[in-house]
Amino acid sequence: MPIFFILSGSPLCYNTRMLIAPSMLACDFSQIGYEANRAINAGADWLHLDVMDGSFVDNISFGPDICGVIRKAAPAGAFLDAHLMIDEPLHYLPRFLKAGMDMISVHVEREGAVDLHATLAAIREGGAQAALALNPATPVERLLPYLSELDMILVMSVVPGFGGQSFMHDMLNKVRFLDEQRKQHGYKFIIQMDGGIGTPQAPLCREAGADCLVAGSSTFCAPDMAAAIASMK
Ligand code: DX5
Ligand code: ZN
Repeated sequence: MPIFFILSGSPLCYNTRMLIAPSMLACDFSQIGYEANRAINAGADWLHLDVMDGSFVDNISFGPDICGVIRKAAPAGAFLDAHLMIDEPLHYLPRFLKAGMDMISVHVEREGAVDLHATLAAIREGGAQAALALNPATPVERLLPYLSELDMILVMSVVPGFGGQSFMHDMLNKVRFLDEQRKQHGYKFIIQMDGGIGTPQAPLCREAGADCLVAGSSTFCAPDMAAAIASMK
């Protein structure tokens, strides 16, 4: 049996290993550059940057300037994954592109108020990869018109706004549905889960079809970050 079938239920066009993306929301903001390096040195594949505007979610975190600070401070080539929990992603997009983000996720709940097809196209034209994110209360079918335009789908497994919440197991069904969709139709997107994820949840996410796990509290707040990341992988 080929090795990739043993390692993963997904075909080779998806990642055959689990990517771990520590969320900078859980880091020590007073030394954010050091923290970015600490995560990469501990084995993080990506850094996840949670951008909140105090309107789309009930919290304010940081914006494109701090994303640019992380870009400059992080090791060269670090993959920066910006999760925009903001009302106006298209308006602010040029600033996040200029800050050097590699992946940019915008929320499908802004459909109607924001032209999401244009936003996804602009992300790609700006040289980044494009993703749509989905809140727990949003039906997964809302993503169907966009599947061929996506490099990634972000499935929220907590209500966005705050770190340290409990994982919502029902969200695994959305991942299973999306994994089926890409198997049936040959879509290339990877699937990321975000919220309440640590070592106990990682195998559940993987079995459902997730390729990338965002983990804030369980990585930055762990006594040994490298061990926490290795254990999730
Ligand atoms: C929530 C954010 C998540 C969160 C993850 O709005 O999108 O990325 O910070 O943190 P933990 O892993 O602590 O749930
Ligand atoms: Zn996030």
